[in-house]
Amino acid sequence: MSNFQEILTTRRTAYSFEKKPISDSILQQALYAASQAPCHKHTNPWKFYIIGESTRKKLIPTIEKLADLKSARIGSSDLQKGRDKAIQKIIDAPLLIAITSKRNELDKFREKEDYAATVCALHNLVLSLWDNDVSSQWSTGSITRDEETYRIISIDSEQEEIIGFIKAGYSSAKSKVKKLKIEEISRFLE
Ligand SMILES: Cc1cc2nc3c(=O)[nH]c(=O)nc-3n(C[C@H](O)[C@H](O)[C@H](O)COP(=O)(O)O)c2cc1C
Repeated sequence: MSNFQEILTTRRTAYSFEKKPISDSILQQALYAASQAPCHKHTNPWKFYIIGESTRKKLIPTIEKLADLKSARIGSSDLQKGRDKAIQKIIDAPLLIAITSKRNELDKFREKEDYAATVCALHNLVLSLWDNDVSSQWSTGSITRDEETYRIISIDSEQEEIIGFIKAGYSSAKSKVKKLKIEEISRFLE
């Protein structure tokens, strides 16, 4: 990747990844980029849980439970197919990271600001990966919100909220997405 504007404007969500692993130096660089995100009051509200193979395997019963619920919701009778697809998405991602933001029951404004800061950190991570040709997908599927997921990853759900999983890896599949024109999203006032 050559320049920063190009990194910003060519990043696209990827939905499938090659098996090729991501080097530790690329991951460390991305985590460092995340740690440099802005945050009001220096709360550093973000945490990154890099989820390895054995923890992913512990998630399988939860993935299956949620896949069955989805099959029931969409009226699919092929439960095994739904399960296999959902398991594959989690198991096969070369890199899987759960990102959390600090909760604040007593100060909802701070919690909102912290969420904004954590999103900045998450996107720093995504852009740093992309700078190294690694694509990613932010996902907020039901697995990211299930209490069992918190227990298995050892996240205290009273203190932290999972704001998403990032699945990342090398990918040649480029998704097409329609973005609004600059004129549609901006107003210049005198
Ligand atoms: C907060 C948030 C949650 C998302 N959750 C999902 C998700 O659960 N599943 C998914 O496939 N993509 C998810 N995405 C990715 C979006 O679908 C994607 O960003 C959108 O289609 C625009 O494409 P682009 O990222 O290539 O610009 C999420 C993105 C954001 C910002």
